[in-house]
Parts: sequence; structure tokens; C-alpha cells
Amino acid sequence: MSLLDKLNSRKNGFSNYAEYQGEYIYPKLTGPLRSRMHFKGKQVIVWSFNDYLGLQSDERVIEAETEVVKKYGAGYPAGSRLLTGNTDYHERLEHEIRQLVRKEVLLLNFGYQGIMSVVDSLVDRNDIIIYDQGVHASLIDGVRLHQGAKHSFRHNDVEHLRKHLDHSGKKPEAETLVLVDGVYSMRGDTARLNEILSLKQSYDFTLLVDDAHGWLTFGERGSVGELISEVDIYISTFAKSAAIIGGFVAADKGFIDHFRYNLRSQTFGRTLPLINVASVLFKLQLLKEEGEERRAKLWRNTKHLQEGLKQSGYNIGDTCSPITPIYLQCEDEVANNFIQQLRYKYGVFCSVVVYPVIPKGQMILRLIATALHDEKDIEETLRAFSILNQELNINNQTEHM
Ligand SMILES: Cc1ncc(COP(=O)(O)O)c(C=O)c1O
Repeated sequence: MSLLDKLNSRKNGFSNYAEYQGEYIYPKLTGPLRSRMHFKGKQVIVWSFNDYLGLQSDERVIEAETEVVKKYGAGYPAGSRLLTGNTDYHERLEHEIRQLVRKEVLLLNFGYQGIMSVVDSLVDRNDIIIYDQGVHASLIDGVRLHQGAKHSFRHNDVEHLRKHLDHSGKKPEAETLVLVDGVYSMRGDTARLNEILSLKQSYDFTLLVDDAHGWLTFGERGSVGELISEVDIYISTFAKSAAIIGGFVAADKGFIDHFRYNLRSQTFGRTLPLINVASVLFKLQLLKEEGEERRAKLWRNTKHLQEGLKQSGYNIGDTCSPITPIYLQCEDEVANNFIQQLRYKYGVFCSVVVYPVIPKGQMILRLIATALHDEKDIEETLRAFSILNQELNINNQTEHM
């Protein structure tokens, strides 16, 4: 049997959904980033892009990015940050973010790889990692690299975390690293940070929070707010509110000095392109004037959408962010019919989330509210969901994940 035969014989993960290519996986949305785009030639209201504050489609942002490309091209600088990839712009962006989060900052050339490397760089085989079962794949893959003890606790179950801290069998030379997300990317709920931090009174551990969905969305210090001073390591990608590839890690100087020289994905990978750095710098500048208004609109839209869905009988779980999961509990065939009608009859496009992103046997539709959406987008969407629930009686008594 060849390697390829073997791979084909035990299809994993998304390979099982290959028949839905172009539909639920790898769909093609066309046209500029707007709340209404085109899917298979039909206009749809899009609820599945990462641009919470509506910054990436702003003409002024596109103009600023164009200026940078005209001068430097898209591939500048040409090297890893450590060798030839550092510029005044990179340092200026670190300075700007430092003002917001009040910690030392190091840029990351990708959220995913950066987060994975941060975890990898922090622990050796003597150390223990304890992580929430709902954390993002980038943290999970950091944990996978760890050769020492690793334990997961049930999502947001602080008592379960405490039990692991009690029973972690710590040797004198072992340190403990606890990993959580600020906002959980599928459920939209937030970490129980107050309770987790209070465990620090009884246990010695380092807390890392990945706040990819919280930073700028909730405010300058993300979903953790003023508790940021008690969070040891705070990470965010730019991919959500700043709407472009890249990210940063923030911590005390000692940690940042360590990260500067020990993150393999940064040392052995190309630096964050200048166009991304300049784009985030420009967006942060815009937010100084427009941040409050954009955030107010985002949260108004979020409330409107989520209240409307609940009124129509949908189970949206415990979300407290613009991430709006609809937990479906019905046969695959019914769900498929539902999604098809949503897209093709009512022109509403949202993501369908299945295993391996969430546990086997579950299905959620995920809608992400943004400041780009308007009242009409929301009303039309709610109307479609309301009619479809009456027609198909789609669910909705699912337990939360
Ligand atoms: C919680 C969380 N962390 C990290 C990432 C990875 O970020 P990036 O897309 O910048 O690699 C994502 C993106 O999906 C995310 O949702």
C-alpha cells in the first residue's frame, strides 16, 4: 500500500466533506468585502467574515495600503525579523500596541504559528500544561509539541481546572502553564477570568490568554479589560478586528525578551510584511477617532441579531460576543435543506461548522455580526430564520457544547 493509498483509505477531518467543496467548504464569495457579496452569481448577506469593526473595506484603509505597496511592493522586507526583517514601522506598531495593552509587545508574523511557538517556547519536558478543552487549534498544536504532562479541563469548568492544579503531581522543578481563550471562537462565550485568576492565590501558575476575538472588539484591552495587568501572557491575532494577517504577544519585559529570541516560527519564518504592519498602524489611528462609534454599531448589531434569533426559538448558547452560534439538532438531511434554503431562497450566507472544528455529531451555523452590517441586513436575515424555523421546525433544544 502506498502512502497515498493509506491516506485515502482513512479519510480524516475535512476530507470527509470533500463532496461539499464549493458549498460548505472552500465556498467562493466574490466582490469587495461588504455585508452583501456574491455567491454563485447571487447576492447574499454574508455573516461569516472576520472584520468585526468594518475596517478592511474602508476606502481610506485601502488607499493607505496602496501607497505602501506602490513604494515597497507587497514582499518587503525580505527576511526573518531577526536578520533582515525589522523596520521602524514594526517597532512603531509595537509601541502603539504597548500603549493600548500596557505591556511589552512583540509582533508575530502569523497568529496561528506565533501562538503555537509561544506555547512551545515556554515549557520543557518537566513542565505541565493545563488547557481549556475549547481553546483554539493554535494553542492545541502548541500543546501537541509539548513532551511533558498535559491535562485538559472541561470548557469553562474552573473547578475541574482546580482539580488538575491540585493533582498535577508537581515536582520541584516543574512549572505550570494554564491556557485559555479570552473569547471562544465557536461558542462566543468568554473565559471565567476572575475565577481563574483567583486560583493564583492558592496555586502557582502562568496564565496565557489568546484573545483573538476580544482585542479591539471589546476595547483596547480586549475581553480581559483591566484584568490584563494580572494576565501573564496576552496574545491576539490581527486577523479579526484588525482584519489582516499577523498578531502580537504582550507580557512583561522578561517574557518578551525570551520570545524575541526563542519563537521558532518567527526566527525561521519571514517577517510580517510591511503592508500588514502599515495597515494595522493606519487602522489603529482610525480607531482613535472612530473606535467608539464603530464598536457601538457592532454591539448594537450583535444585540439585534441575537435577540431576534432567540425570539424565533433558536438556541444560541451562552455567547456574549458578536460570535453567534446556532446549535442545530436535527437530521443531516433537514439541516442541509435548511442551509440550502437559507442560501438560495433567502440569500443569507453563514458558515456551517462541523467536526473536526467541534465535537463529532454536532453541527452549528455560525453568524458573526460586524459593524459593516445594517438594520436591513439584520431584518432580512431574521425574517428568513423565522420563516424557516416555522416551516422546518429545525430544533432547538440542544445542550450547549
Ligand atoms: C482564537 C483564535 N486564535 C488564533 C487564531 C489564528 O489566527 P491567524 O488567523 O492570525 O493565524 C484564530 C483564527 O482563526 C482564532 O480564532
